[in-house]
Amino acid sequence: MKLQDSVIAITGGGQGLGRAMAEYLAAKGAKLALIDLMEDKLAESVEACKAAGVEAKAYVCNVAKEEDVENTFKAIVDDFGQLNGLINNAGILRDGLMVKYKDGKLEKRMELSQWQSVIDVNLTGVFLCGREAATRMIENGDKGAIINIASISRAGNMGQSNYSAAKAGVSALVPVWAKELARYGIRCMGIAPGFIETEMTASMKPEALEKMTAGIPLKRMGKPEEIASAAAFIFENDYVSGRMIEVDGALRL
Ligand SMILES: NC(=O)c1ccc[n+]([C@@H]2O[C@H](COP(=O)([O-])OP(=O)(O)OC[C@H]3O[C@@H](n4cnc5c(N)ncnc54)[C@H](O)[C@@H]3O)[C@@H](O)[C@H]2O)c1
Repeated sequence: MKLQDSVIAITGGGQGLGRAMAEYLAAKGAKLALIDLMEDKLAESVEACKAAGVEAKAYVCNVAKEEDVENTFKAIVDDFGQLNGLINNAGILRDGLMVKYKDGKLEKRMELSQWQSVIDVNLTGVFLCGREAATRMIENGDKGAIINIASISRAGNMGQSNYSAAKAGVSALVPVWAKELARYGIRCMGIAPGFIETEMTASMKPEALEKMTAGIPLKRMGKPEEIASAAAFIFENDYVSGRMIEVDGALRL
């Protein structure tokens, strides 16, 4: 698929990896429909894309809310007249051990609300946006691709019951959707990033960052553009589908 003049929706497009992917695809001539909860951040991302000379629009939407998602994808097709791709990127962290004991006494457990909030956004949100994007693409006769952003944590990371389960879930959806949607000319791929330099990692203590980086075989964190270039490759190569691309500097949990 040619990125030039194609329309790509990105959830969580207000900052971090979502913003980086938006700018990277804009530089390749794609038009961007950016979805996020944060209106001000979305406006900045839209301006950054427009500066590359492409059309871009902001959609304030909670990906975990069915009605929001349905209205948003309808609006995207109404606004742009087509939809060729979706990057399911919006995600949150609510880390904590499932159970934590100290000196034989229970200190803390992962609350059901802590579990549910991550499942709602990182798993249900991906389902809702994937379903809606596929529906709109099929009804409009548009071919393209859906990309689910997972994480190295899909293998199971300590302190991340909720996040690891959601990321394993969105990885499992990749071959399911690739098989189900191939007949409509829609491919589905996943990207599992390792540790990437974003707002999230920038706020970590330098000692913690150093320790983490030392454990990565390539001895550095990934750059947002390195995730964005994997996304561009997926859109541009019409024979990749149903698989995960791991962009993690060879780190294994
Ligand atoms: N940064 C990393 O090192 C890293 C590593 C592996 C995976 N990831 C994954 O990449 C994705 C992006 O991560 P990031 O580091 O850019 O995070 P980030 O927190 O910087 O950005 C996430 C964006 O998603 C938006 N968002 C959150 N909940 C939403 C909701 N309910 N509806 C709509 N938008 C919502 C936020 O407002 C934010 O703009 C996430 O899925 C994350 O799990 C990141």
